[in-house]
Amino acid sequence: MCSKLKIADGDLFIIGHLLEVTCSLEQMFLLLRRWSRTEHMKPMFIGRIGPYLFLNTADPDIIEDIISASKHLEKSTLYRFLDLWLGKGLLTSTGTLWHTRRKILTSAFHFSILQNFISIFNEGGDKLVETIKQDSKDSVDVVPLVSDATLHGINSTSMGAKMESIEGGIKYKNNVGKITYYSAWRCVRPWLFNDIFYYYFTSNGRKERQLLRSSHAFIDDLIKRRAAGFQVFDVDNEISFGQGRKKLAMLDLLLNEKIKNNAIDNQGIRDEVNTFVFEGHDTTASNLSFMLMLLACHRDIQDQVYEELQHILGPELSREPTYADLQEMNLMERCIKESLRLYPSVPFIGRIASEDIVTKAGIIPKGLSINIHIYDVHRDPQYWPDPETFDPSRFLPENCRNRHPYSYIPFSAGPRNCIGQRFAILEIKSILCKIFKNFILEPIDTPESLVLVQELTLRSVNGIKVKFVPRINKNK
Ligand code: HEM
Repeated sequence: MCSKLKIADGDLFIIGHLLEVTCSLEQMFLLLRRWSRTEHMKPMFIGRIGPYLFLNTADPDIIEDIISASKHLEKSTLYRFLDLWLGKGLLTSTGTLWHTRRKILTSAFHFSILQNFISIFNEGGDKLVETIKQDSKDSVDVVPLVSDATLHGINSTSMGAKMESIEGGIKYKNNVGKITYYSAWRCVRPWLFNDIFYYYFTSNGRKERQLLRSSHAFIDDLIKRRAAGFQVFDVDNEISFGQGRKKLAMLDLLLNEKIKNNAIDNQGIRDEVNTFVFEGHDTTASNLSFMLMLLACHRDIQDQVYEELQHILGPELSREPTYADLQEMNLMERCIKESLRLYPSVPFIGRIASEDIVTKAGIIPKGLSINIHIYDVHRDPQYWPDPETFDPSRFLPENCRNRHPYSYIPFSAGPRNCIGQRFAILEIKSILCKIFKNFILEPIDTPESLVLVQELTLRSVNGIKVKFVPRINKNK
């Protein structure tokens, strides 16, 4: 069965696909799409960078074999390049450390906690609207603006902080953009795999170290402010209804675990805060940016979303959305799902086979690194007819009924799925309410004009531009 594993086209003696993959990130994105769609390389193929082998797949059956079980939980070797940045945070850790942390952190995303975050998300949306109003240009790159809003969101909720220093936040956000770029650049260049050589003897490595120092300083400051005067508490009281302060910050939970149960040390807290501030803002910002572009391009659907919002929040969206209101926004939810299908914020994930995995196309041998291309799963015409078309009705209950459960995995699936998915959907909805209350979106960028790259998150090289036309409300 092993012999059935196919090597991608263009494999050269000794170096494998090295020449092909050491291209720009834009070209790399296109190469991966070409490989994933080549019929004779389906449903899985091997890419080879010198001695390093990577199995690649975008097949829902095979993905199910890999990620549904509680077995192959270790992340692939590519995540190693995040070590200096995220340490052993929830995204990158494995084994009992991951299990223990996941258990502790799950309570920070309980719905009784999340519902108390809505007013903070609304505030973030208001701030974003003000910034857009001040930016009187016809064409606005939404990416930096929505990233500010989502960074404000994660810091003011899970980290319990106010954005004390906007300057620090902007610098942090820009640093993240560059760090993810360097990591993606490095991961197909084997001569940069050695940490000492990369970080001390290459100019990109030295620059990355500087960026990491600055990002860590921002995160350390967040932790220091929250730890000052911190008092231990009873977690069950915080989470249950009717008692406690209920706006439980994830960072409080970690500080509590450290002081009360000695279950985490300072480095552990730092790794988790680094992980969650990054994952908690960059992914959500990516989705919001693509979503705004898609709705600008589809005025008919945008108008229907506005109608739905008027129905829930009253004429001209006069009422602040509550948790219950956000649950009712079914069309908006379908639009978010469809935008995550076309532009999954995390376009690929990686695992290591912890034992031989038997699949319909042969055995994946123990120890092999596996890349799962979510981007290509979501555009496979076998599961998504006319895959390039934005059509939120794909997510009407009657249209989902017989779909393969692993043909749509924007938040991954199985035990290592996204811990923050409900947080993300609530924040996206809340921010969109504020935008639609104030603006009509018109297209500048379109799906055809974007040049995509996959760093850790999906990005558009030249930003994502939209025109915001003030909505004239009769009551103003
Ligand atoms: C639209 C927004 C989001 C998308 C599409 C998304 C997607 C994903 C995906 C695909 C994974 C699996 C990654 C992997 O296996 O390598 C993941 C994991 C994770 N996400 Fe998200 N995410 C989003 C928002 C968030 C938010 C808001 C937070 C935090 C508040 C968050 C925190 C995490 C963490 C900590 C993990 C690692 C979980 C583990 O391994 O146990 N994500 N996310």
